[in-house]
Amino acid sequence: MHTRYLQWMTLAILICATGRLLAASGVIRPGEPWFDQHGARIQAHGGGITFWKGTYYWFGEDRTPTNDLEKRYVACYSSRDLVRWKFKRQVLALADPEHLGPRWVLERPKVYVNERTGKFVMYAHLDDAHYKLARVMVAVSDRIDGTYAYVKSFRPLGEESRDIGQFVDDDGSAYLIFESRPTKGFFIARLTGDFMSVERTCFIAAPLEGGALVHYGNLYYVVGSHMTGWRPNPNVYATAPALTGPWTKFRNLAPPEANNYGSQSTMLLKVTGTKKTTVIFMADEWRPRALWDSRYLWMPLEMDDGSMHLPPPQPWSLNLKTGETTIH
Ligand code: DGJ
Repeated sequence: MHTRYLQWMTLAILICATGRLLAASGVIRPGEPWFDQHGARIQAHGGGITFWKGTYYWFGEDRTPTNDLEKRYVACYSSRDLVRWKFKRQVLALADPEHLGPRWVLERPKVYVNERTGKFVMYAHLDDAHYKLARVMVAVSDRIDGTYAYVKSFRPLGEESRDIGQFVDDDGSAYLIFESRPTKGFFIARLTGDFMSVERTCFIAAPLEGGALVHYGNLYYVVGSHMTGWRPNPNVYATAPALTGPWTKFRNLAPPEANNYGSQSTMLLKVTGTKKTTVIFMADEWRPRALWDSRYLWMPLEMDDGSMHLPPPQPWSLNLKTGETTIH
């Protein structure tokens, strides 16, 4: 018994130490376990990144198996280099807010900074076990890594809303992307002044989820995945000169046989350096039977005048100052 205990302890220490060493090397390893400062697995699935006062904050679904099964959790991590992440806290530990019943759903949380009101506003997909509610929930905090208080849930623009995505344009205006099955497409909707609601910007007639957006060069690029539940599929992208369109037809982000390297889009993060602007494709490799063990696939995209390509995942590093990336 004692020997087995020692063996487990040694293994746990080795795993933590390896995780810390990998992070310390400044290398992002797509698909490999990613650890926080305590050596615990990062729980930020279906997540979003908020850049605020020189620091990146990563929010996402916290699927830790020891969480209270009645509640849904959002964890917050901070980083200055996008590689080493400090666990701040579970910023949301929400009990069923709308009598949704067993196995209710809170997915894809995103946090926006409202410079005008000084509030931090979280949006997330809220649903019942059968995904019939199809709403967003809104929660608010006075601190970016403080406790978020539930405010309300609603259907944006009165439409069914499931997967959501987040986009903040270069001029600071904030947008919610949401998939809406009955309309066979998804919406880009600008947040109102107080961020408590949205107004229509554009509807894209393509039934895609995992929606993500970036403004790069003179074009907007939107990415999405097809509707195959937790299973990966070839993600696609389109471009437009303005958020209102016109949008091109959708093209594959990677060779279709690669099946998006087992991942599903969640966000596009732009890093503007002194020499280069890099767009990072952030995606989830879902493990539906053990969601806590789902992995993250982050890769720099190859961008060229209207085209966007996801290369095969490999370890890589980023020079935040210059914006340049190195494949290892
Ligand atoms: C695909 C979505 O992108 C995920 O966030 C999750 O809702 C699964 N479907 C559930 O099947």
